[in-house]
Amino acid sequence: MDSAMAFISNLLVLHILCLSTSYPFSSSMPDTLGEGLSLSIDKPSDVLTSREGVFTAGFFPVGDNAYCFAIWFSEPSYYNDDNRAVVWMANRDSPVNGRRSKLTLLKTGNLILTDAGKATVWSTGTASLSLTRLQLYNSGNLVLFSSEGVVLWQSFDWPADTLLTEQPLTRSVELVSSRSPTNLSSGFYKLFFDNNNVLTLLYDGIEISSVYWPYPWLISTDAGRSTYNNSRIAILDSFGNFTSSDDFTFVSADYGVRMQRRLKIEYDGNLRLYSRKNAGERWVFSWEAYPRTCNIHGICGANSICNYVPGGRECSCIPGYKLRNQTDWSYGCEPQFKLSCNKNESKFLPLDSVEYYGYDYGFFPNYTISECEDLCLQLCNCMGFQFTFYEDNGYSNCYPKTMLLNGYRAASFPGTLYLRLPKTFLLSDSNISSLNCLGQGIKQLDRMYTKGHTNEFVQFMLWFACGLGGFEVLCFLLVWYLLLTSHQNSDADVGRYFLAATGFRRYSFAELHKATKGFSEEIGKGAGGIVYRGVLPDARVAAIKRLNEANPVEAEFLAEVNTIGRLNHMHLIEMWGYCAEGKQRLLVYEYLENGSLKQNLDSNTVGWDKRIEIAVGTAKGLAYLHEECLEWILHCDVKPQNILLDSNYQPKIADFGMSKLLKRGELNNSSLSRIRGTRGYMAPEWISNLPITSKVDVYSYGLVVLEMLTGKSPTCYAFDVNGLGGTILSWVRHKVNGTSEVAPLLQEIMDPSMKGEFDMKKMKILLEVALKCVEEDKDKRPTMSHVLETLLHHDKQ
Ligand SMILES: *[C@@H]1O[C@H](CO)[C@@H](O)[C@H](O)[C@H]1NC(C)=O
Ligand SMILES: *[C@@H]1O[C@H](CO)[C@@H](O)[C@H](O)[C@H]1NC(C)=O
Ligand SMILES: *[C@@H]1O[C@H](CO)[C@@H](O)[C@H](O)[C@H]1NC(C)=O
Ligand SMILES: *[C@@H]1O[C@H](CO)[C@@H](O)[C@H](O)[C@H]1NC(C)=O
Ligand SMILES: *[C@@H]1O[C@H](CO)[C@@H](O)[C@H](O)[C@H]1NC(C)=O
Ligand SMILES: *[C@@H]1O[C@H](CO)[C@@H](O)[C@H](O)[C@H]1NC(C)=O
Ligand SMILES: *[C@@H]1O[C@H](CO)[C@@H](O)[C@H](O)[C@H]1NC(C)=O
Repeated sequence: MDSAMAFISNLLVLHILCLSTSYPFSSSMPDTLGEGLSLSIDKPSDVLTSREGVFTAGFFPVGDNAYCFAIWFSEPSYYNDDNRAVVWMANRDSPVNGRRSKLTLLKTGNLILTDAGKATVWSTGTASLSLTRLQLYNSGNLVLFSSEGVVLWQSFDWPADTLLTEQPLTRSVELVSSRSPTNLSSGFYKLFFDNNNVLTLLYDGIEISSVYWPYPWLISTDAGRSTYNNSRIAILDSFGNFTSSDDFTFVSADYGVRMQRRLKIEYDGNLRLYSRKNAGERWVFSWEAYPRTCNIHGICGANSICNYVPGGRECSCIPGYKLRNQTDWSYGCEPQFKLSCNKNESKFLPLDSVEYYGYDYGFFPNYTISECEDLCLQLCNCMGFQFTFYEDNGYSNCYPKTMLLNGYRAASFPGTLYLRLPKTFLLSDSNISSLNCLGQGIKQLDRMYTKGHTNEFVQFMLWFACGLGGFEVLCFLLVWYLLLTSHQNSDADVGRYFLAATGFRRYSFAELHKATKGFSEEIGKGAGGIVYRGVLPDARVAAIKRLNEANPVEAEFLAEVNTIGRLNHMHLIEMWGYCAEGKQRLLVYEYLENGSLKQNLDSNTVGWDKRIEIAVGTAKGLAYLHEECLEWILHCDVKPQNILLDSNYQPKIADFGMSKLLKRGELNNSSLSRIRGTRGYMAPEWISNLPITSKVDVYSYGLVVLEMLTGKSPTCYAFDVNGLGGTILSWVRHKVNGTSEVAPLLQEIMDPSMKGEFDMKKMKILLEVALKCVEEDKDKRPTMSHVLETLLHHDKQ
């Protein structure tokens, strides 16, 4: 805690003492080791303690009978979470034996650490003709002085993974993370000033190294860093203000109070500041450099995916690859196949919302998926490609990948990684032994991103939000539009009373602004805009969607809302009104308290009977959209997030007609703008160049029913005993068909949360219908009315 003042005063005291006595301190002073004396590992009391007792230096256990000479905060936390905060280590990469090792201050002025009395594993390499002494300060600095008071060596110049307050990070110094939470030897992550004078975080891994902070996709100045100041110094004060000569600064969350603080580069590559007010209290984490921890390079090694899971993240290998070192993820995963150069022998497996950063063969804008596939197949070393389609502006990006590094999955990432695998590696009916559901429970963590305060974050978020990403509340909007239909007359006063009988009306922006309390209660996000909860002037609770990029031509907007507003069905969500004022376009829908089918599946609140009702109700709604209503409407984005449940758990389909409102081009425009819907639930026609018909909704419906049966989303991948991967569909088909050795195992398909409480006969029917709906060949899929007929027919029996 002592700052420079204390340091200087200590120095003066020492200096005066030296001059007056001209005799070495004895080791009786607990913060000082005199010349010719040692600290022995065999005597636990052989430690140095700084004058106010804040820091202790001594032998610290780092493994079985393995010790490092270290400095730590003397007072452990009262809680068990972080027993001793080690802030410095002399010999982290060569620990010494637990017996007969010692630290000795030689008469020559060299401080040496010897292992079991023999080999020197570490030394300061200093020499002095005069007397020397080693003193531990209350700042955490361990200093070797000559009797003239000259600093020969100090631990502040040789940090390990931690920077203390008033300890400068300079041009000659780097912080290096530890290898793992339990292995404190040097790891892969470094903090230092690079050659451009920029304070940088680097992943320096087994095979590759790359900078990940400041964000590599930004040039330094865009990241707010200056390259001109070559003094290269950064320092944290005890109030929590960090300043660096490249203009990077931050203040801790608890800024302003003098506290114990330590800035540590952690084994996972993040730079975190911890603080505590009083010795012994729990360390509180008060700042971090990198909130999106799955984006830290190298975190799961090569050919793997980092997933956010509740409370943290986890690594998994991609299908077809296996873990290289069972105990250490840094080695990543290795392929279990050899890719052939023959383009006829590879296929692609889509991994939704997965991104691999860097190592592109090139950037190919506006390529279609099939063009990108062809390109990748022509390259022998192409391991797959990253494909992103930005629905809002019709752009698409194709990045063939020569290496699959820095992989992570985030639900909000709008792109897909098409993984290249030998044809023989895509599962058909082989023995599937495990399922891996990527990225379950990501949502809360995605929210954290939005808290980012820098511009890069906002930009990043916008990109995400514009994408295809599946969001739950989107659906509400469409219904509203439908009700609006009769509003061809854009005159506000006329519109206001239009359809007054059904409650459908035009709202002013001011009304909706007030209803949503200034758009404060966000309940969902989607490609089209953000959805807010609001209370209308007549006290009804509504879901209000504010469109990002709606068709600005009011007449066309009203025409579409008119069409959608005319749809009226108990299984379609009801639109109560809209707002079209200036550039603002908002839709007002009924608000369903029970949320989406997705939320209910995740929280296990829908039992077997409800699931059947939901399957039937959804089929009714879709059949009406496809075949009965005035103008046939394809939904194009059927998914559990778009099926909302009313108070009786009756399903209501939301978000139909969205494509018309958002004016994303006609269905058969270009092959690019054709792509709609949500990855995972998209029919194969979207990707090939086949015509888009109502069968795309049938396909997605089949997947939704499968999800209700299995409780597993299409982002799950199946693996067989050899680690070969396939989709959840191949897993279900495998269980249904059985193999030559194994009989069909229908019970195993069922969502385990049902605990066996379901009707086998009905389950078989649903399963049969679902599997027909997901036929690759669209002509083999039934129509929605046919699906409905099958379900109702069996229901009566
Ligand atoms: C710690 O990691 C280092 C570097 O990878 C390794 O050499 C050492 O064996 C590890 N120590 C323990 C105790 O696992
Ligand atoms: C942090 O310290 C720097 C340099 O001393 C100073 O310019 C800046 O105003 C301080 N920031 C805050 C929030 O006090
Ligand atoms: C460079 O940075 C140091 C430390 O932050 C600061 O004291 C100095 O004024 C800076 N020099 C210039 C030219 O900005
Ligand atoms: C796996 O990693 C550990 C720790 O880094 C190392 O000790 C071990 O030798 C490695 N095993 C293999 C098979 O590479
Ligand atoms: C790939 O398949 C095509 C069509 O089936 C065939 O004409 C071509 O010769 C095959 N190429 C190779 C290298 O086998
Ligand atoms: C990609 O397509 C969009 C929309 O069709 C167009 O505006 C854009 O200029 C194209 N970009 C390139 C690089 O061709
Ligand atoms: C499938 O798994 C079963 C049980 O694990 C095993 O007995 C059988 O030999 C496997 N079949 C194949 C084709 O691998």
